[in-house]
Amino acid sequence: MITLILDENKLDTAKSLLEIGEIVAIPTETVYGLAANALNPHAISKIFSAKGRPQDNPLIVHISNYEMLNSLVAEIPEKAKILMDNFWGGPLTLVFKKSDLVPDEISKGLDTVAIRFPSHKLTLDLIELCGFPLAAPSANISGRPSTTTFEHVLEDLNGKIAGAIKDKPCEIGLESTVLDVTSEPFRLLRPGGVTAEQIEQFVGKIVTDKAVLGEILDTQKVSSPGMKYKHYAPKADLVVLCGNPDKTAKYIAQNASINDGILCFDEYEHYFFGASILTFGSKNDISSQANLLFDKLRIFDLISVEKIYAQCPSDIGLGLAVTNRMKKASGFNVLDLGQKIIGITGNSGSGKTTFTDFAKENGYEIVDCDEVYHNLLENNADMLSELFESFPQAFENNVINLKKLGELVFENSEKLEQLNAITHKFVKETCLDRIKNAKTTVIFDVPLMFESGFNEYCDIVVGILSKEENKTQRIISRDNISHEYASARLKNQKNDSFYMANCDIIIENDGEINDFKQKILEILKGE
Ligand code: TXA
Ligand code: MG
Repeated sequence: MITLILDENKLDTAKSLLEIGEIVAIPTETVYGLAANALNPHAISKIFSAKGRPQDNPLIVHISNYEMLNSLVAEIPEKAKILMDNFWGGPLTLVFKKSDLVPDEISKGLDTVAIRFPSHKLTLDLIELCGFPLAAPSANISGRPSTTTFEHVLEDLNGKIAGAIKDKPCEIGLESTVLDVTSEPFRLLRPGGVTAEQIEQFVGKIVTDKAVLGEILDTQKVSSPGMKYKHYAPKADLVVLCGNPDKTAKYIAQNASINDGILCFDEYEHYFFGASILTFGSKNDISSQANLLFDKLRIFDLISVEKIYAQCPSDIGLGLAVTNRMKKASGFNVLDLGQKIIGITGNSGSGKTTFTDFAKENGYEIVDCDEVYHNLLENNADMLSELFESFPQAFENNVINLKKLGELVFENSEKLEQLNAITHKFVKETCLDRIKNAKTTVIFDVPLMFESGFNEYCDIVVGILSKEENKTQRIISRDNISHEYASARLKNQKNDSFYMANCDIIIENDGEINDFKQKILEILKGE
């Protein structure tokens, strides 16, 4: 197929191609898109073949007026209207409940549809001219970095599509923000040109989907199917370095070799020798980094480097979109040199697991002392043989019986000390090993933090407090035990004043779960 090269004066030709069910690459303010008539299933299917796009990944529908919107969605929440008033046209895609007009080729089995009202004049003119909405994913081969210049589009799609409209490089350079407004709080599915902070100014707190910062496993269900695929990936392995730029530059200088590529902030260009060095803006210029990231990743493909080291900005504001694309491009091969060890402790039922689960969703690593201990009891031959020597009565046919072990040390402080001396050594070694190998900040969950001395290894220790009755209720429902037994368990644990005296930070967990999560985020981000 010959791809017709069009420009702003040839919108009529583009319209004709789209009308007969062909697909055409179009510029937008974010990235180039590959457009089809959103109401023509056959045309839409051509997008999937040209891009090699996974079949379950739904498409964004682009509109140029509110009549189109009304025909495509089942309802528009009031709060979403505020966002539309403030950010449309522009790089904010909203996910609504869909109307029956939306073909399943767009929504791919979901009952929602993602709608974007762009700001790019040429895009809007074309949609108006067509009179129908345009489905358009980014105009790249799936898995490759999105296209931000016309040259990129030809690189990926020349000969595979009927037409391509030539325009300047895209103004923003990263795809639009995707926000699900079908339930409250609104959910950020993909960070982009409109930042989470900007959205929150108008509609209050939003939640960030776990796929934005962390890795999604094949088996996990995701809110936005596109999030589970390796994306934006250059051919060479990419290592993303987070933390203070002086530190990340030093790390790269020490580790990169002559065949490697380096993507660094402008200030550090002269810091390196030998390797292929590309810059993507000053360390404080996130707009430039957003604008140039995909272009630079593509250049590395052309010059064939072995491995790419990239300096990553902080994830505040537009930085969240840049870090999200970088981390995904690397398949989450991230090294955080600003790594810290955050200890958490507190009574049973106070909320330690909520803390660790939430931190994990946000891409942090967890070392859970209890879990390490139980794994060792199941798998560590050395520890088991030491236990066998001291507590032979707790073993039956060479298998440890934990209930018996418990009975042996219960109310016998000497025996308990003996047990702790054995297990502590193994638990400590394993925990420290895992902390050493962690690539990001670690949350170190230790119920007996100060008694074990593990606080020595933490940069800060967070104590989680909660009212007696709340803790009791949580233990009862979690462990399915009686009220009496749950209270008895809490009686044996340290009281609030102990934690207040020893911990660096105290947080309380007696209110709304979202407030608790907010406090956790503040701690994780070091605010
Ligand atoms: O800036 C952009 O949004 C560009 C330009 C061309 O407008 N388009 C774009 O489309 O990035 P695409 O297909 O590359 O990314 C669309 C993302 C995917 O992650 C997809 O899974 C998600 O939006 N998405 C689409 N419909 C959805 C829905 N109904 N619910 C949740 N996520 C949806
Ligand atoms: Mg895409």
